[in-house]
Amino acid sequence: MQLMSSRILPRIVSEMTEQLDINKPEFWEEIYQHGRAGWDLGGPTPVFERLIQSGEFKPGHMIVICAGRGHDAREFARHGYRVDAVEFAAEAADAMRAMNDMQNPVLIYQTDMFHLSKDLNGQYDYVLEYTCMCAIDPNRRNAYADLVTRLLKPGGIYIDLAFPTDRRKGGPPFAVVVDEILAMFTARGFKLLRREIPNDSVPQRKSNEELLIFQKTKNPFSETG
Ligand SMILES: C[S@@+](CC[C@H](N)C(=O)[O-])C[C@H]1O[C@@H](n2cnc3c(N)ncnc32)[C@H](O)[C@@H]1O
Repeated sequence: MQLMSSRILPRIVSEMTEQLDINKPEFWEEIYQHGRAGWDLGGPTPVFERLIQSGEFKPGHMIVICAGRGHDAREFARHGYRVDAVEFAAEAADAMRAMNDMQNPVLIYQTDMFHLSKDLNGQYDYVLEYTCMCAIDPNRRNAYADLVTRLLKPGGIYIDLAFPTDRRKGGPPFAVVVDEILAMFTARGFKLLRREIPNDSVPQRKSNEELLIFQKTKNPFSETG
C-alpha cells in the first residue's frame, strides 16, 4: 500500500519510506534504522502499568501484537504473565531479544502477525495492542479483528489502547474510530467490559486515545480454522 499522506508525519515518513510498502517489514525497519520511531516511549505505557497494579486481571498467557521493542511485553512478563510478542521488523525484534529478561522471558515471534501459525489459535487469555491497529493498512482492519478473535481463548480479553482517535487524515498512524472498533468486535462475539479515556495517557497522546477492554464471549470461528 502506498502511504495515504506523508505530510502529517514528517518525523516517521521519509522519501525512502514512501517507496516502501507499509505491509512489509522493510518499511518499518527503515524507520527504526534512521531513529525515527517516535512512537517508542522508551519504557512501559503508564495505562498498562496501572492495569497491572490494579490486580484486576490475573496473570495469564498474553500476546502483544506489533510489540516494537517490547517495553509493554516485558512489563507484563515481569508481573507474572506468560508473554509472547510478535513483531516483524528485524531492528525492533533484535532490540527485544537484547533487552529480554531471562528471569521473565518474552517469547518473540519475528514474523508478520497475519502469518502467525494456526497452532496459536485459541491459545491466549489476553491480546494486547497499542499503536498496532493504527500502524496497519486500514483495509486490513477486518483481517486484524479476525486475527485477534482467533488468537483468544473463549472468555479471553482483548486490551486495546486505541490511538489516535483524532480523525486525522492519512497515516501511519491511521486514525481509529472507536464506534468502528466496537462494531467490529461485537460482530465477532465480544462484549465490551470497559471504555475509558485515560487520565494517565502520556502527555503527547492525552485525549487522543481510549482504553477499550473486550471479552470474547463466544467463538464465531473454529479454533483450528
Ligand atoms: C507504531 S509501531 C508500535 C510499536 C509498539 N507497539 C510501541 O508502542 O512501541 C508499530 C509496530 O508494528 C510493527 N508491525 C506493523 N505491521 C506488522 C505486522 N503485520 N506484523 C508484525 N508487526 C507489524 C512495526 O514493525 C512496528 O514496530
